[in-house]
Amino acid sequence: MQKLKHLRHVMSPLDLTTEELDKMMDLAEDMEAKPEKYAHVCDGMKLATLFYEPSTRTRLSFETAMLNMGGSVIGFHSADSSSATKGESVADTIRVLGCFADIAAMRHPKEGAPMVAASVSPIPVINGGDGGHQHPTQTLADLMTIRKLKGRLNNLTVGLCGDLKFGRTVHSLISALVRYDNVKFVLISPEELRLPSYVKEDVLAKNHKEFTEVIRLEEALPSLDILYMTRVQKERFFNEDDYVRMKDFYILDEEKMGLARDDMYVLHPLPRVNEISVDVDADPRAAYFRQVYWGMYMRMALMFTLLELEVK
Ligand code: CP
Repeated sequence: MQKLKHLRHVMSPLDLTTEELDKMMDLAEDMEAKPEKYAHVCDGMKLATLFYEPSTRTRLSFETAMLNMGGSVIGFHSADSSSATKGESVADTIRVLGCFADIAAMRHPKEGAPMVAASVSPIPVINGGDGGHQHPTQTLADLMTIRKLKGRLNNLTVGLCGDLKFGRTVHSLISALVRYDNVKFVLISPEELRLPSYVKEDVLAKNHKEFTEVIRLEEALPSLDILYMTRVQKERFFNEDDYVRMKDFYILDEEKMGLARDDMYVLHPLPRVNEISVDVDADPRAAYFRQVYWGMYMRMALMFTLLELEVK
């Protein structure tokens, strides 16, 4: 196991300074441009993926990131295939994985579960999404994509649309973007899925950020630099009828894209269901697959940083 000077965990984007984020974005660009330079930096190391909830992008991009740096991967992709089914706690599980691996990425349906793991872990733990709380590595992908497309992370009007109540990607992105100057937020959601008041009060208001709440996407579109669409998440609803009523509340299509500026970009953490029509995919402003692409390089950069690696 790699001996670290400082054992660090990433539970939310606030665990990284803006200077570190900037450096990580520069590093991700270098990793993309010169893959051979980083191809062996993790030789002999292992990533453990502890995924108690389904994932395609997050888990596989973490795994790809470690493989691209010469390391290998162990782990499980559902609670059912682990000893969680026998009642093992996340704290014991991370102690066990800490005997085998150098770094861990954990996704869990319960808010705070990765934090519990981190509190006893001998290796860095990265939150790969915990319930409706935080998803910091999605935010790394989002920030990088915005910087690549707009050339900046300040002076932006960002529209966040869909499930703002349970949307962990939205909560993480807001907590990262409030640290940049002159970022304004337009919160687009039905009444039932509004941003929780703790995020409005403790994050937006406390950081003196301007925000407006609207219900109609058409009303917001003309003013935006970035539109961050999100899925109404079936798995977060207690009542199927509420989900069915909400699920198609927003559908972005090419006709609505006609209301947006030529330099407005559409991001989405994915998976999408119906909220972005496939006819938008061919629009040059559709950036959601570029987000997936950059997410892998940002996860490489994050693990490189937490493992205190250097290029030989
Ligand atoms: N964006 C995201 O978290 O996707 P997955 O659920 O597929 O990991």
